[in-house]
Amino acid sequence: MSATKGLEGIVATTSSVSSIIDGVLTYHGYNIDDLADNASFEEVIYLLWNHKLPNKEELKSFKQELSQASPIPDAVIEQMKSYDISKVHPMAALRTAVSNLALFDEEADEMNEEANRRKALKLQAQIPTIVTAFARIREGKEPVAPKEGLSFAAGFLYMLNGEEPDEISEKAFNKALVLHADHELNASTFTARVCVATLSDVYSGITSAIGALKGPLHGGANERVMAMLNEIGDEDKAESYIKDALANKVKIMGFGHRVYKDGDPRAKHLKEMSRQLTEVTGVSKWYEMSVKIDEIVTNEKGLLPNVDFYSASVYHSLGIDHDLFTPIFAVSRTSGWLAHILEQYENNRLIRPRAEYTGPDKQEWVPLEKRT
Ligand code: ACO
Repeated sequence: MSATKGLEGIVATTSSVSSIIDGVLTYHGYNIDDLADNASFEEVIYLLWNHKLPNKEELKSFKQELSQASPIPDAVIEQMKSYDISKVHPMAALRTAVSNLALFDEEADEMNEEANRRKALKLQAQIPTIVTAFARIREGKEPVAPKEGLSFAAGFLYMLNGEEPDEISEKAFNKALVLHADHELNASTFTARVCVATLSDVYSGITSAIGALKGPLHGGANERVMAMLNEIGDEDKAESYIKDALANKVKIMGFGHRVYKDGDPRAKHLKEMSRQLTEVTGVSKWYEMSVKIDEIVTNEKGLLPNVDFYSASVYHSLGIDHDLFTPIFAVSRTSGWLAHILEQYENNRLIRPRAEYTGPDKQEWVPLEKRT
């Protein structure tokens, strides 16, 4: 019995939610390029959960259901106000608040499909409310209640900023949500599936997934990309910074991928959005520095940007606080986590792999008083 480090190349389940085949990403058979150019995030959520695109009527009622489910219990807001919010990372706050939500849902532990779908809807609708409430509370502002009639993307930016976004920001944010929605058996989705395969509840599955997304080798990379851009500070300093980092075996955040070796198909969309947003903000520094770093890392190490690299300058151009980048990833990826959780329940078997033992053998018991 020998282990494969990081489970590389191991096929751990079947799934019809999304696929990565020969470097092409699809959500239930729809190419990510088509979805990025055409779909609303609500259509994508519907697709992931129902395995079909909604017709007009279905989309209308789905949007209404999402909108009606978005307010969160006052107690969840009060809990966020109860700790020293200035010292808490928003991903930690989100993880705790999602777990807290379960305590206010009478059917949190109901295991039938209808109840699980109702919980999925609530979680998808309420996670944006939590993220934006947290962002406002720490600035000493009151949370903004969800507003009916706005798209998912506009609704998020409205709750964050207290005003409706312009059309370009709404479109860019919608596209970012579409691009981050699902990604086959990534680390956080696998975590969610392992959790609910014990027949634990949907809230536990999403809470576990948020914990996995938080790490810098996964969703936490986007915030660190922006920290790196800030640290470099100027395009002229990029070359020496990156060469030094690579020489010291430091990982460059936003580059490399376990599955894509010829490039992440989402990155080109985010790169183009990052460029377009420079025309809106009039600030091209972050985009140009990102392109330069991209060239250097590709030339020096043959590594290509992943979804996190250009999303950093996109979110920065949208005026979003840097530590909210990963929570925004969670807002989008919740749709994929939930699709996988529902799929896991449909055809469940406990996920319990083995470990190759590397510890000592045949140890003799030593009584406590004789131990040194
Ligand atoms: N910067 C520098 N070197 C890198 C990077 C990087 N970003 N990524 C991989 N490498 C190097 C490794 O050091 C290793 O080199 P070596 O063979 O000389 O030791 C080689 O490339 C293979 O890399 P692994 O770490 O084995 O690749 P793995 O598949 O385990 O990891 C991962 C993939 C975690 C994405 C990695 O590329 C990485 O740490 N990237 C930076 C963090 C990041 O951007 N994460 C977001 C990924 S996308 C997402 O989760 C949403």
